[in-house]
Amino acid sequence: MRKSSSFTKVVCLAGPMVCAASVFGAETVWLSSLDLTKMTSGWSVPKVDLGVVGKPISIDGKQFARGVGTHAKSKMRLDLGGAGKRFFAQVGLDDSTEGHGSVEFLVTGDGKVLWRSGLIAGRQPARSLDVDITGVRILGLRVTDGNDGTGYDHADWAEAGFVMQDSASLPVPLPPLEPFGPKAKNFALEFEVGDDNRLYQHALGAGSANEPPQRFDEAYPQWGDGYVWEPALQVAHADGNTSTTLLYDSVTRTNEGPARELLRIKLRDPAYPFEVTLCFRAHDERDLVEQWVEIKHRESGPVKFERMASSALLLSPTNLHLTHFFGDWGKEMQPTTEFLTPGTKVLDSKLGVRAHQFRNPSFILSLDDASSETTGRVLAGSLAWSGSFQCAFDHNGRSVRALCGLNPFASSYLLAAGETFTTPRMIWVWSNQGLGNMSRKFHAWARDFGLRDGHSTRAVLLNNWYATGFDFDFSRIVGLYDPAREIGAELLLLDDGWFGNKYPRVNDQAGLGDWQPNRKRLPEGLASLAAAAGKRGLKFGIWLEPEMVNPKSELFERHPNWVIAQPKRELEFQRNQLVLDLTRPEVQQFEWRVIQDILSVPGVSYAKWDCNRYLTQPGSSWLAPDRQSHLWIDYVHALYSLMDKTAQSFPKTELMLCAGGGGRVDYAALQYFHEFWPSDNTDPLVRLPMQWDYSYFFPPMAIVSHVTHSDSLPMHFACAVAMSANFGLDLDLVKLSVEDEAICAGAVAAYKQVRDVVHFGDLYRLENPHDSPRCALNFVNTNRSQAVMFVFQMRDSQALPVRPQGLDPVKRYAVRQLNPAPARPALLQEAKSFTGEELMRDGIVPNCGRAMEACVIHLSP
Ligand code: GLA
Repeated sequence: MRKSSSFTKVVCLAGPMVCAASVFGAETVWLSSLDLTKMTSGWSVPKVDLGVVGKPISIDGKQFARGVGTHAKSKMRLDLGGAGKRFFAQVGLDDSTEGHGSVEFLVTGDGKVLWRSGLIAGRQPARSLDVDITGVRILGLRVTDGNDGTGYDHADWAEAGFVMQDSASLPVPLPPLEPFGPKAKNFALEFEVGDDNRLYQHALGAGSANEPPQRFDEAYPQWGDGYVWEPALQVAHADGNTSTTLLYDSVTRTNEGPARELLRIKLRDPAYPFEVTLCFRAHDERDLVEQWVEIKHRESGPVKFERMASSALLLSPTNLHLTHFFGDWGKEMQPTTEFLTPGTKVLDSKLGVRAHQFRNPSFILSLDDASSETTGRVLAGSLAWSGSFQCAFDHNGRSVRALCGLNPFASSYLLAAGETFTTPRMIWVWSNQGLGNMSRKFHAWARDFGLRDGHSTRAVLLNNWYATGFDFDFSRIVGLYDPAREIGAELLLLDDGWFGNKYPRVNDQAGLGDWQPNRKRLPEGLASLAAAAGKRGLKFGIWLEPEMVNPKSELFERHPNWVIAQPKRELEFQRNQLVLDLTRPEVQQFEWRVIQDILSVPGVSYAKWDCNRYLTQPGSSWLAPDRQSHLWIDYVHALYSLMDKTAQSFPKTELMLCAGGGGRVDYAALQYFHEFWPSDNTDPLVRLPMQWDYSYFFPPMAIVSHVTHSDSLPMHFACAVAMSANFGLDLDLVKLSVEDEAICAGAVAAYKQVRDVVHFGDLYRLENPHDSPRCALNFVNTNRSQAVMFVFQMRDSQALPVRPQGLDPVKRYAVRQLNPAPARPALLQEAKSFTGEELMRDGIVPNCGRAMEACVIHLSP
């Protein structure tokens, strides 16, 4: 660095606007002579040869005739065209701050920090800089607020000038780089194009950007060219180069509908015909952003992808808590909350199909310690992908990157030139007011976009699975119809066991794949069952598991090579079955024919699509040896195409998503379904917390909840639990006691009264079943004229009042218990009317305090 005394040799040769001087034989340009309208200032505007308050520049008692007075935070970018030699200045806090304030000055060249002053406080002498800028194209001048706010931060670039090469053009001030990104009402992601032309993100939860962005902050980091943490993208180009460099190309915004905007940011590799588009769909009112990535190239051969995240969001690491949901068959959606520390926390699945068996691809990040139902800034993520996935939280000490998408494990993928690869969608929801607000946004969005027919009422269904298992015939099923109708059910669902002739499906060991009705059990086929239901005003639905085959089946005998298996390995079974290889076109045609045949049976208007195993031997006899790793991705795409065709071709058929319980619950599959079966565990005491936890992300109208013969638990309690979600019954109604029958009929009638409130209303979770002896929640309809509150007593406790939420404070509500339990006293407030404010303040005293008691309270005008 040259000594500051050398500056005094500068002689001004030109007029006041452009003052060039000859120093050491080169051209010098004063910063104050350039167009300062391009310099930003945190207060007022930058001043020529004066401090920002308009008085002569003075630093620690020393006056400077020349320079620029600005105010933190301040930025300026200048295009030097690579023709600069040196930039020099004396910098400090102006004496007008009277000793207050603190700032830091930075000089960057093409995105790299060339010089930084360190923290400068008031009344400190000016610091000199003389920086070599040879070859720099874009020079950045920046004043930070010293990380303590911008008060009194009057910052002077005194005697600041450039030495340019002989006969070089003047530095050209560039417009400031404004951050941009998808923006919803309270939720914005901010990106910035750096001076190196890379795309950067301002970490969510951090203060507004102060420092120039660094490689840690890259929006969609690529492996192999300088980035050393977990990358979002790792590819081998057609020529074998394992590095990628993505530079900003362009951005487009499309208004897709009321309060819905699509933002597409295109990035390109300067050395390859390879482009990546980051896509964001922001739903304004919902504070919800859908994010995915599209990748395409025109290289000379296929490009091999090792990883390609859907989202690589950056968060500030302060106090970040992660809540995630692990589980197993019968124990789905069990929450754990942990504090994120440096290192990488990975949540993933390698199960291929029924991939959510052990963990749902949804999680919650709390930004201010642990959040509550009503407080805290939270960001929830839900990956719309039914196959193997990975959500990795990479904490590098400076930021936390949430990398979510396809599981890169064993899934490399060859993409041919001209094809576009689209990653799964990641759904992000933001709330400033805790978990309740977050869930209501998810639910509202799901009704509009996430589920099929999210604004239509779901029927009360009677299933035969827990009632009969595999043991039924035509008359046993038809025998359920009259009691079903009498109890108020609207739809009968015939579960597993209706098909297979050579190998009848009388247990789970045979028949899967042979989708012809069993002639002995159902001599007249499905149509007669559907017709008998129709005659009684009931709808009829059917169970199917199109992706699977039992080795004991005619299908397997005919096509043993249609299954997913590894050559030279003994076949491994789960529930005695194998997965059909959906990447094979004949299998796709076969499954589509099965679905068409079943759903075209006259009178069939509902189906439960099951999937009872996952992949353990991921080999395909269809895919080429170098494409075996495509199975994970191609299977799921083929599955979606089948589901999509089903939804398109049978628009009036309602579909339940099931995978041995909740083994496949995500917003990609759900777009083709009306609802999902959350678990084969129907014990109401297990279901309560499980429904609570699913409801963080999925609306109760989609969470199917059936009353079954669940051991010795009181029927009234079981009914109330089911009524708080998508209600159904799975009971042998013929064998039901008179008392239980009356309770069930009362529950169905009560549920129908408030069904629309439960389906389409706002959910308020009031008392958490994980940490209290009771669980309580309430729903409020859209115009807040009605609400329904559920109180479930899991253990004995005092019947203290429960305070509903979300009511209209000035509206009056009459309190009425629905389907009261036999022999329990009436509510203290029964039939009385209160304002919403009174109810939310004083609460309602439930008439249950003993374990396994519940009450359902209707609030209406
Ligand atoms: C799975 C489902 C059950 C039932 C059985 C039938 O386990 O989760 O609800 O349909 O299959 O075999």
